[in-house]
Amino acid sequence: MSPILVTGGAGYIGSHVVQQLVARGERVLVIDNLSSGFTDAVRGAELIIGEVGDRVLITRILSQNRVDAVLHFAAHTIVPESMSDPLKYYGNNTCSTRNLLASCVESGVRRFLFSSTAAVYGMTPGGVADEQTPTLPINPYGRSKLMSEAMLRDVSAIGAMRHVILRYFNVAGCDPLGRIGQSTPNATLLIKAVCECAVGKRESISIFGTDYDTPDGTGIRDYIHVEDLAAAHLRALDHLRADGESLTLNCGYGHGYSVREVVEAVERASGKSLNVIEKPRRDGDLPMLIARADQLRARLGWQPAHDDLDFIVATALAWERKLADRAAQPR
Ligand code: UD1
Repeated sequence: MSPILVTGGAGYIGSHVVQQLVARGERVLVIDNLSSGFTDAVRGAELIIGEVGDRVLITRILSQNRVDAVLHFAAHTIVPESMSDPLKYYGNNTCSTRNLLASCVESGVRRFLFSSTAAVYGMTPGGVADEQTPTLPINPYGRSKLMSEAMLRDVSAIGAMRHVILRYFNVAGCDPLGRIGQSTPNATLLIKAVCECAVGKRESISIFGTDYDTPDGTGIRDYIHVEDLAAAHLRALDHLRADGESLTLNCGYGHGYSVREVVEAVERASGKSLNVIEKPRRDGDLPMLIARADQLRARLGWQPAHDDLDFIVATALAWERKLADRAAQPR
């Protein structure tokens, strides 16, 4: 069986996709430089440690293994860091993707799935985005991903491959069976940060902005469970294998929750009242961003299984407790 190459398969989202691919009997190769991934997150797949931008290494892997499809997750993803160190993002996210695409073309890989982001949209009318909404990213992270999208479309336009670009909204939660999770140190993402507070890893949780024009004054986002997002990748791969056309699809549930609602959900799940500190707005944050996500359902036949904030939070909290237990164990 021809294998699939997953870049960044030791990271948070990549590892959940790998686990689902392996569970349905796919042969999977993972390439990861372990800059933010973990060896033990790669379950049932071969892990190659290396750089996605390494043309020689990647071309060799693709040709020797007759790789059927590439799923490209490897990227830096921290928006505030992209503002302070933009070239890191253009280098690792954009330039490396260019090299990866060149290796794919050279080796005849004809199917490509790309992890893009809602950050490509920027400020949208009414805080809602469909795939036709103009893309005006407000940070280098979003721009670095948008440039990769453009390269991929151009390469597909010359007939070299077909692709599915998945634009993730706010991904959260972990494997409900607790085998893998989100282990990123110094996390900035809301649900992980609040869960860290609930297990005592943080003293307090900050709410960045309570004066937005939203019902409770805090920012609203469309949180999607990582298992539902992973399932969308398997559907996208099937679509390309069935000779489906290239697509760009939003990945979200189509509705959102405020920061306060997230904090309350973690308080409910943990049975603890958290030390919440209200702070000014964070630079580069939007009041609201929700996906119009009908296309994901219509084009790929995807259906969410975990569209429930309490479930998302319960899985994230269970993983955080596991990490806290591990950290407390004597070495
Ligand atoms: C952003 C990107 C998203 C990217 C993600 C990864 C945009 C529009 N979205 O999501 O594409 O995948 O980063 O880094 O650029 N908040 C707090 N306290 C905290 C942390 C967050 O109040 O400690 C608030 C934020 O102000 C925001 C919401 O929680 O309103 C979600 O923030 P976060 O989880 O960081 O994700 P985004 O910035 O929405």
